[in-house]
Amino acid sequence: MKKQKLILAYSGGLDTSCCLNWLKDKGFEIICFSANLGSEFSPKELRAKAKKSGAFKIYVKDLRKEFSQNYILPSLKAGALYQNKYLLSTALGRPLIAKYLVDIAKSENAGYVAHGCSAKGNDQIRLELAIKSLAPDLKIIAPLRNWELSSREEEIDYAKKNNLPIDSTKNKIFSIDKNIWGVSIEAGLLEDLNNRVPEEAYILTKSVHAALKKPERVEIEFQKGKPVKINKTTLTLTNIIEKLNKIGGRHSIGRTDLIEDRVVGIKSREIYEAPAAWILYKALREIEELVFGKEMLEFKKIVSSYYADLAYRGLWFYELKNSLDAFINKSSNKLSGKVELELYKGNIVTLKRSSRYSLYEKRLATYGKKDLFCRDWAEGFINILGIPLKKR
Ligand code: ARG
Repeated sequence: MKKQKLILAYSGGLDTSCCLNWLKDKGFEIICFSANLGSEFSPKELRAKAKKSGAFKIYVKDLRKEFSQNYILPSLKAGALYQNKYLLSTALGRPLIAKYLVDIAKSENAGYVAHGCSAKGNDQIRLELAIKSLAPDLKIIAPLRNWELSSREEEIDYAKKNNLPIDSTKNKIFSIDKNIWGVSIEAGLLEDLNNRVPEEAYILTKSVHAALKKPERVEIEFQKGKPVKINKTTLTLTNIIEKLNKIGGRHSIGRTDLIEDRVVGIKSREIYEAPAAWILYKALREIEELVFGKEMLEFKKIVSSYYADLAYRGLWFYELKNSLDAFINKSSNKLSGKVELELYKGNIVTLKRSSRYSLYEKRLATYGKKDLFCRDWAEGFINILGIPLKKR
C-alpha cells in the first residue's frame, strides 16, 4: 500500500524529532518543513537531522521578509499589545508557518499535516485555526496530545532508544521560542513565581546593570506607519528590526515578565525580550499622538485591543481581523514622520517628533505672543457645556 504523505512543522528540537519518528512508525511518509523567522538557524544541520530521523524530504525556508512585511508590520501598525506586556512575537509567527504547511501540503498532494505543540499551549490553537481557515479539509495530527510519552524525560529516553539526533549536551532549562520580533521564555524554574529570572535566561538583552553607561539616540522615520529609516539610513524592515534588536539589547530595552492568560484558561508565567518591537511600538505611538485627533486615538485603542486578542488567539485569517486591517491601513496613511528617541538603562525617552500631518499648532498652543486662539470663544463654549449642569 502506498504511504500517506504528511507535512510536519519541524524545528529539529526534541519534541519534533520524536514526532517525526512516531509518525513514521504510524506509517506516514514524512515531509518536514522548517521556517527561519529569525531563530538560531542552520539549514544544513536541520537537513541532516531530519534525514537522520527518517524524513523523506525537508523544505527549509527563510521567511524573515514575509514575516516582517505581512505579519509584524500589520501588528505594529495596529498597536497590538497583549496584556500590556507582550508584543506577540510567537503568536505572529504561527499563521505564517501554517500558511506554508498548507501550501506545501497542496503542492505535495498530502492529506495530512502535523505539529509538535503541546496540549496546554496557545500554539496548537494558532496553527490549527489558521490551517482550518486556509484548508478546511486537511487532516491535522498533534502527536503531543495523544502519544504515550508524558514528560520530557520520557521523550529523551524515546529519542535515545530510536537513535534520534538530539542535543543532549545542551541541557535545556527553559522552553524558548525566538524570532526577529522577540523571544519568549518559559518553564523550568520560572514556573515557581518566587524565582527571579536568572540572567542567563535572556538572549537579546543586557541587564539594566550591565547596560551601556552612556545613553544612545536613535531616529526612526516612518512612512504610512512603516519604519523605513533609522538614523537617516534607508533599510529593509527586517534589517531595521534586526538592527534595533542590537541597539535596544545593549540598553536593556524590552524585557517583560508576564503572568499571562493563555487561551486554554491557564495562567502561566512568560518572560519576553523584544527590544526592536518595543522601540518601534513606542515610536509609532508618538507619531499617532501627533497626527490623530482625539476620536481617532480613542477608537484606535479599541482596535488595538481587539487586534491583539485576535492575533493571540490564533484568529489571524478571520474576517474581523481582515476588516480591522482595512481600518488600520486606511488610518495609517498619515502616519509619516520622524521620532528621535534616547535609550538608556531600560528606558525609552522621546526627544523629538515631527510629521507633515501633525495636528499640533504651536500658535494655538502657546501661552506666549502670536497666539491664534481667540479668547472670546471660550466663554460661550463653557456656557453651552454648562447648560445641563446648571439645570441639575
Ligand atoms: N506564551 C507565548 C504565546 O502564547 C509564547 C509561547 C511560546 N513558547 C515558548 N516556548 N516559550 O505566544
